[in-house]
Amino acid sequence: ALVGGAHEHADDDARTGKGLASVENGNSGTSNATNGHSVETTYEEFAGSVEKEKEEVDDDTHTQSTDTGDLNEEDKQIEEDFKKHVDKKRLKAYSSPEQCYFFCGLIACFCTGLAWPICGVLFALMLSAMSILDYDVARTWTEWLAAAFGLLAVADIVAQYFQTYLFEVIGERMTRRIRTDYFRSLVRQDMGWFDDPANALGVLTSRLAVDIKLIRLTVGQGTGSTVSSLTALLAGFIIALIAAWQFALAFLATMPLLAMTEAINWALMKGGDSASKKKLGEISGAFGEYVNGIREVQSFSLEEVVTSDIAELLQEKILVIAKKAAVFRGISAGSVQFIQLGVYALAFYIGARLIDDGLLDFESFNLVLWSMAFGASGMGMAANWVAAAAKGKAAAVRVFELFDRTPPIDSKPWNDDGSPRDMAVPSDVNGKKGEIEFRNVKFAYPTRKTARVFDGLSLKIPSGQTAALIGSSGSGKSTVMALLERFYDPVAAVVDRGDKGEDERIEIVIDGKLSDSNGVVMVDGVDIRKMDVKYLRNAIALVGQEPVLFDASVRENIAFGKDGASEEEIISAAKTANAHEFISNFDGGYDYNVGSRGKKVSGGQKQRIAIARAVLKEHRILLLDEATSALDNESEKLVQASLDNLIAENKAHDRTTIIIAHRLSTVRNADCIYVFENAGDGAVVVESGNHKELIALNGKYKALLDATMQSTED
Ligand SMILES: Nc1ncnc2c1ncn2[C@@H]1O[C@H](COP(=O)(O)OP(=O)(O)OP(=O)(O)O)[C@@H](O)[C@H]1O
Ligand SMILES: [Mg+2]
Repeated sequence: ALVGGAHEHADDDARTGKGLASVENGNSGTSNATNGHSVETTYEEFAGSVEKEKEEVDDDTHTQSTDTGDLNEEDKQIEEDFKKHVDKKRLKAYSSPEQCYFFCGLIACFCTGLAWPICGVLFALMLSAMSILDYDVARTWTEWLAAAFGLLAVADIVAQYFQTYLFEVIGERMTRRIRTDYFRSLVRQDMGWFDDPANALGVLTSRLAVDIKLIRLTVGQGTGSTVSSLTALLAGFIIALIAAWQFALAFLATMPLLAMTEAINWALMKGGDSASKKKLGEISGAFGEYVNGIREVQSFSLEEVVTSDIAELLQEKILVIAKKAAVFRGISAGSVQFIQLGVYALAFYIGARLIDDGLLDFESFNLVLWSMAFGASGMGMAANWVAAAAKGKAAAVRVFELFDRTPPIDSKPWNDDGSPRDMAVPSDVNGKKGEIEFRNVKFAYPTRKTARVFDGLSLKIPSGQTAALIGSSGSGKSTVMALLERFYDPVAAVVDRGDKGEDERIEIVIDGKLSDSNGVVMVDGVDIRKMDVKYLRNAIALVGQEPVLFDASVRENIAFGKDGASEEEIISAAKTANAHEFISNFDGGYDYNVGSRGKKVSGGQKQRIAIARAVLKEHRILLLDEATSALDNESEKLVQASLDNLIAENKAHDRTTIIIAHRLSTVRNADCIYVFENAGDGAVVVESGNHKELIALNGKYKALLDATMQSTED
């Protein structure tokens, strides 16, 4: 009974409920599942994208909202980002160790702030001095004032230096902490999250670079300039009050106008900029793809095509927003100028009237005017910083969202204090060594909910056995391994196979957490969703279909298999994997750097290094996804031999092996073979048994062998 109910479950499934849900009006179609299935998500929000799916269904469109170029939607989103409240305490905590720096920085800010109105006062006094009729007195006065200017200049230089230096240091240290935490939160996210185009590589890297730089504006120079400007403004006003309070108050009345310019500046900064930045993030996604695939781009002579693709994206996504922003910016910049000059006009008019009424003299007029004008001159700059800080806060909201996201499949790599976490070993392992069972598993990838990969897949592999999975390309063999590693959880899928008509629409059914209705994947008799993910993954060694090496030495790449592996262990693993010889011939042997993604070694070498890595890992279950990419005869034999070594060693240690095989020799030796077939609505196991039994059956297995494996038969 290894081949479980493949077909008998088809009918009780909700996907037969064709035409039940007409989902165009507001309430999402998830609310009335057909056969009493609950509609809760199985793993949180089906890898975080259920909401989006609901919206898509509601809108009756299946394009992603980001692709529609709907600017209003975009604007709303940006508006939302701005409104969301960022936890200020949390942001502050990132710079809390620099409190002392911050305090000293503030003192420097007071000094630079005071310099402005003092400059105004000196300026006013200079005007008065120059209008003294006695030349000797005038000269003495101007000399003294010139010296005072010089003194102010020296003091300002020092204060400015400290202000800039200290706040730069604070900002730099804060961003370093945030970047570290960002990466830390990133690496623990689940595969479904990474599959989502919203989290494409380009977007994530741009976030690391751009967003975090923006966050820096919230504490760095921005705070300094704001404090400095406010000091200048306040000191200027106090000086003006002392000099001539009526005029000072009248001048103050024009302040709301200046505040208005600030508001305009703010709107200016937040609008177009973040919209285009967001779009730029999307474009850098495409950009990253093309750079990553530069070999394909060049070999297919796609330079022209991809360039025009990028150009088109830029045109489509940025230009539209930029145009709108440019108009807005032009108008705003004009009005800012208009208001500022208008304020001067008003001030001169009021001053003149007050002088006329005998309430003001020339010197006080100058004192008020210049101390306040100089005092306010930093305001524009401060407004810019405030606006920038607002953008920083919006960026912080986005970044903190990731910090707070607990992935639905969480390996919880760290304790709360940031130290590495010990894994929880289940108590009921009972000496079992890697028994694997798939019980009626239904699955669709989060990014392709409408295409079921499995429709009730069942198989059971006793511990210590070697099982081979075969089936046509795309039948879901690699997916079995992804589910076993718990990169994804079984999910019954969200199905909308209807072409257009409402009648064809099929209910979205996602089942509750830890329910069995999507099927269960078990290791050693335990539902892997109840297992510590770290423990599970620790027990499994995987050699993927396209193994990836990291930009490091061969030694380091192999040693990833085991923490603190000794040189002997590494070499012995390499020998088992048939890799020792060619590694020894490398420049520098085991110190040879394989390049990014293993670019600097051949395909077959890469595979053998990956196999060595798996050999080194102390595992109970081995997953081998044989590469389909053709190697030449010689290296294929070498890879095959190293795989055979690995399988044999596994057998000797009584470990379980699952191999996705493309070569008859491997399949023939397997204890049990599972034949996958997708009859249109997700794959199931159609035949199982050992080679002899299946040949005798003369069914799909035989046909598959005849069709695909003949050529590679040895
Ligand atoms: N990350 C993914 N997101 C969405 N769909 C995927 C993803 N990975 C695979 N698929 C789809 O799931 C199905 C099963 O893929 P899988 O990789 O398991 O096939 P396979 O049997 O290993 O094929 P092959 O022999 O070619 O390696 C395919 O239709 C594939 O297009
Ligand atoms: Mg595959």
